[in-house]
Amino acid sequence: MILSIESSCDDSAISITEIDTNKLLFHKKISQELEHSLYGGVVPELAARLHAEALPNILHECEPYFKDLKAVAVTATPGLAVTLVEGVIMAKAIAISLDIPLIGVNHLVGHIYSLFIEKETVFPLTVLLVSGGHTQVMEVKSLTQIQTVAKSMDDSFGESFDKVAKMMGLGYPGGPLIQDLAKGGDRLKHNFTVPLHQSPLIAFSYSGLKNAVRLAVLDADGDKNKYKDIAASFEHIATKHVTMKLKKYFKTVKPKTFAIVGGASANMYLRGQIEELLKPHGANLLLSELKYCSDNAAMIGRVAVEMYKQEMFTSLTDLDIAPRSTL
Ligand code: KG4
Ligand code: ZN
Repeated sequence: MILSIESSCDDSAISITEIDTNKLLFHKKISQELEHSLYGGVVPELAARLHAEALPNILHECEPYFKDLKAVAVTATPGLAVTLVEGVIMAKAIAISLDIPLIGVNHLVGHIYSLFIEKETVFPLTVLLVSGGHTQVMEVKSLTQIQTVAKSMDDSFGESFDKVAKMMGLGYPGGPLIQDLAKGGDRLKHNFTVPLHQSPLIAFSYSGLKNAVRLAVLDADGDKNKYKDIAASFEHIATKHVTMKLKKYFKTVKPKTFAIVGGASANMYLRGQIEELLKPHGANLLLSELKYCSDNAAMIGRVAVEMYKQEMFTSLTDLDIAPRSTL
């Protein structure tokens, strides 16, 4: 078995995965949404302190598995420096005390493997990662052959939902809140400009759209009904931006399997629009289970199983955190 730790942002999570079967034997996650909601976004130092409280409590529940552990895995990149370090310190302590190897996992690879929790892998595939930290398209052939072919030039899809919710004083995380509010609104009420619609680049950008929404929110002056239309129009344009760029991508690449992962892949409007887009291409759409879209340790454990089999271990002195990803 492998024990895996995730603490790259605001979720403290630990999993136990059986190496031979990929079976998830234990998974517990403690989210900090309530604590950060007050500030409309994640406060890194507060998140680190909450990890320091939560992780030991979850680890305590894993004690019955300690005697069967063959390795300990941990998210080492990318993420918030002060929160990554909480998981990495714990993983190192476990590796030393149980004398087992250490595996440093890339969080983005973790999101890709959220598709394969308790399942076999399916490769090759093209993956759209939409989370709070990332909006990117990756061509994945195997664990070690992952190529990023499009990414955001500034903010991410999920983060733009968080900021729009903050502008409206709704709380954090914004994704589910905006999705709910948008249900009662008119998607065509605000004709926000689709980001990069005239650019030949296959890339993403959310800063301009966020600013256009900010002006509309100011104009609405607290009117809740107007907020519904703004939320609906924003969700529509944020999604249209993604589908327009994917349409361009599909002109040259025809993947048999396409997947959406990351916290914002739980967005139903995005899922529906991408499903429509894929129909004429006959491509298969893979999605993670809703409970594994957002950050969790089950996906880290699933990657760790593959890394263990390929003996991709890191020494205690070499394993270090890296806030930015190398993918
Ligand atoms: O993958 P994740 O848990 O953390 C990162 O790795 O960043 O993603 C969290 C992000 C947040 O920005 C949250 O607002 C967004 O995913 N999110 C959504 C939805 N559910 C979560 N965004 C849009 N629609 C949703 N339904
Ligand atoms: Zn994530």
